[in-house]
Amino acid sequence: MNFRFAVLGEAADRLVEQLEAIGEQFTVVRRCAELRELVAACQSGLAGVALLSEHTAELNSALLERLAACHSRVVVLTDDEAETQRLNSLGARVFSLGSDALKIIQGLESDSVDADGAVTEPAAQFLAIQDAKDDAASNKLLGEAEKKKHPKNVDSSQIIAIWGPIGSPGRTMLATNMAAEFAALGLEVLLIDADSYGASVAATLGILDESAGIARAVRLADQGSLDPEGLWQIAPELVFRGGRFRVLSGLTRPDRWPELRAMALQQLFTLSRQLLPVTIIDCGFSLETDEELSFDSYVPRRNAATLAALRSADQIIAVGAADSIGVPRLIRGLTELANICPGQEPLVVLNKVRRGAAGRSPEQALQQAWLRFGPQFSIKAFLPAETALLDRMLLSGELLIEAGPDSALRKKLQTFVSALAQRNSQTAVSSTTAKNG
Ligand SMILES: Nc1ncnc2c1ncn2[C@@H]1O[C@H](COP(=O)(O)OP(=O)(O)OP(=O)(O)O)[C@@H](O)[C@H]1O
Ligand SMILES: [Mg+2]
Repeated sequence: MNFRFAVLGEAADRLVEQLEAIGEQFTVVRRCAELRELVAACQSGLAGVALLSEHTAELNSALLERLAACHSRVVVLTDDEAETQRLNSLGARVFSLGSDALKIIQGLESDSVDADGAVTEPAAQFLAIQDAKDDAASNKLLGEAEKKKHPKNVDSSQIIAIWGPIGSPGRTMLATNMAAEFAALGLEVLLIDADSYGASVAATLGILDESAGIARAVRLADQGSLDPEGLWQIAPELVFRGGRFRVLSGLTRPDRWPELRAMALQQLFTLSRQLLPVTIIDCGFSLETDEELSFDSYVPRRNAATLAALRSADQIIAVGAADSIGVPRLIRGLTELANICPGQEPLVVLNKVRRGAAGRSPEQALQQAWLRFGPQFSIKAFLPAETALLDRMLLSGELLIEAGPDSALRKKLQTFVSALAQRNSQTAVSSTTAKNG
């Protein structure tokens, strides 16, 4: 196996000299003066490993994401403890300046790599490292004081992604009102607007928001400084009649979508899972991943936020409009979804159920159509159309629990959320029992 290094910094230089002396499988292909050059050497395919001991402070999650996208591994040499912690939390391999070359080789050889020393499954592997490091880092970040402030059973924490196909089937209505129902059950909730096409959580909730909390979270993650305090600051609490939940608002303009990058968002989701029992993510509609296939190097991805949310989710809710356009769209979308999240069985919700669009017994008619054309799994909830109530809510920024606590729509949603919460706590109990027994 050959390792082709791009190096930056004196200590890195000295180390590769040692490596070159060990064998000709270790070669330096580029000595770089700045970080940009190092990244370019990897992006062009020249180098498989980026080794650096200087300019490490400039290494943020955006650059690491680029390096992961072009299958490169990153090895950083530093003796600075804070920098080590920051870089570890971003998923880079960090060794001390005087590290033995053999130790570094062992680290490199334990990866699954191709002939140039580049990782064969870069993004997946990098993200797996990232996930594990995130957990470790967040655990560290969660000092005793934080744990006391936010006591929760980690086993029972859930990331719930609300997805649905194009055509405004009711993703945001479901996300906002599910957040309220979970909160009303006494659970701490963070609602994240990750729709990169038409963020609308803030507008739906009547919050005046110019801050694009999600973009601020990404920036903090880039700097390696996304911690509980930072998250609480950018995700303020919304207090409603019946409880409170935190909201991380979405992009203020859809053309800001390149700011939403998968790796930084994954850090956000991991931290949220560490801190809160329930995280609800309002996703965009599009599941297209073409860009990922057509470029070998890093490009911003329009659907990165939705795809990252779906891949991080413990539970996906797939919502479709209950009419002759919405249902076929949902069925086609579920096939795409299965490719993105194999093995995940989404909970299907049909929304805006009404006689005018589905016949005199709409639930029965929809059920029959689903049995004939739909996938194996069943519809978990039918939510009635209540246009006047929803219009009123949009005007006042109220939630269902406030504006229509006794409405049929709210009752159905409440039952759906209670069942989810119960299922969740049962899973937590059984996984704890399994662990203990
Ligand atoms: N059960 C319902 N009955 C009546 N109207 C509804 C219902 N659910 C949602 N709506 C209305 O449908 C519209 C779209 O809902 P929502 O914004 O939740 O959809 P979305 O899937 O998030 O759409 P977008 O593509 O804009 O993100 C809104 O005006 C909302 O008030
Ligand atoms: Mg929406």
